[in-house]
Amino acid sequence: MTKITTELCTTLNIAYPIVQAGMAGGPTTVDLVASVSEAGALGTLGAAYMEPDDIRAAIRLIRQRTAKPFAVNLFAADMTDDASRIAEVNEVLRGIRSELGLGEPAAELHTPDRFEQQMQVLIEENVPVISTAFGILPARFMEEVKRRGIRVTTMVTTVREAVEAERAGSDVIVAQGSDAGGHRGTFDVGVHPNGANIGTFSLVPQIADQVRVPVVAAGGVMDGRGLVAALALGASGVQLGTRFLTAAESGAHPAYKQALLDSTEESTVITRVFSGRPARGISNAFIRRFDESGVEPLPFPTQNSATNEIRKAAAARNQAGYMSLWAGQATRLLTDGDPASRIVMEIMEEAQRLLSRLPVLNQD
Ligand SMILES: Cc1cc2nc3c(=O)[nH]c(=O)nc-3n(C[C@H](O)[C@H](O)[C@H](O)COP(=O)(O)O)c2cc1C
Repeated sequence: MTKITTELCTTLNIAYPIVQAGMAGGPTTVDLVASVSEAGALGTLGAAYMEPDDIRAAIRLIRQRTAKPFAVNLFAADMTDDASRIAEVNEVLRGIRSELGLGEPAAELHTPDRFEQQMQVLIEENVPVISTAFGILPARFMEEVKRRGIRVTTMVTTVREAVEAERAGSDVIVAQGSDAGGHRGTFDVGVHPNGANIGTFSLVPQIADQVRVPVVAAGGVMDGRGLVAALALGASGVQLGTRFLTAAESGAHPAYKQALLDSTEESTVITRVFSGRPARGISNAFIRRFDESGVEPLPFPTQNSATNEIRKAAAARNQAGYMSLWAGQATRLLTDGDPASRIVMEIMEEAQRLLSRLPVLNQD
C-alpha cells in the first residue's frame, strides 16, 4: 500500500500529513492533543483564550503523554477594545441575559491581552510548533522562535496573506477555505468585514502556485477523500477542526456535539455576532435574535467579551441556542465518539486505498 509522506511530515517531524486544528475555548483537551500526536499526526492546543500558567500546565501534561511533536495555537490579533457602541449592543443582549438568569450587562468592558505572556510561555517551554490565526507572528517573536528551532505555521485565507506569511518566515502555510468551521483567519477584517471567503478548492491550488513552503488545506476536510483531494490540489497536508469536535477526547460541550451530529451542509452561516470577527457556525437562536435587531456587533475582541457570560450560562444550562456552535460545512461526515487515533488511522487508510485505486473508469 502507498505510504503517504509529504514535505509537511519532514518539516514538522510527523508521520502523517494531518494537523488537528487548534480550537480555542475548550475542545482541544490535553487528551485530544496528545492522542493525535501520539497517533502520528500533529495535535494542536487551542490556547488563545487560556491563561499563560494554564498553557504551561497543559504543555507539561501533553509532554507526559507523548514525546512526539505538537503545536500550540494563538491569535496574532489586535486586542484593543472598542466599546463605543456598548449601550446599543447591550440593548440586544439584555433580553437574552434575563432568560438565562443573568443580571444587567457591564457598561464597560476590558478584554485582557495575554499575547506577550502566552508567547513567553511557549518560548520557555520550547514547544515544537507554534501556529497562529488572524495574522503572522510579530517579527521579534518570529526571529526568536526560529532561532530556537521552533516551527511556525500561519493560517491564511488569500494568496496575498500567504505570500506575506512566507516572506515573514512561516515554515508552513495553512490555507483556510471558506468551508472551514470557526473564525475566518482573514488578517484585515477592515478590508473584508465578513472574511475573505474563498472556497478550499479554489484557494489551495492558487496558494500552492505562489509559495514554496508546504501548504496545508483547511476547511471541509473530514476523511481520506479530503486528504487525497488536497494533495491533488497541491497541498502537502490537511488541517481538520470540525472532525475532531466529536472525537472521544474532545472537550466540546455535549449539547454542541449533538448540534453538530444533527446538522447538515445547510446548517451553518458566517456571523460576527458572537465575537465581532466573522466565524462559521451552526445557525441558532442567538444569531437570529442578534441579526433581527439590526444592531451591528462590536469589533473583535469587544463583542467576544460582551457575549462571554451568555455563552457560559448557556453551556451551564445545556442551551445550544445561545452557545457558539462553530462548525464547517461537511458535518454529515462526522462520526460520533471515535478515539482521535482511530480518526487519524482511518483517514490515512482511506487515502492510501484511494491513491492506489482512484475511481477512474478508463486509464490507458
Ligand atoms: C470549534 C472551532 C474552533 C476553532 N478555533 C480556532 C483557533 O482557536 N485557532 C485557529 O487557528 N483556528 C481555529 N479554528 C479553525 C481551524 O483552524 C480550521 O481552519 C478549520 O477547523 C478547518 O475547517 P473544518 O472545521 O471544516 O475542518 C477553529 C475551528 C473550529 C471548528
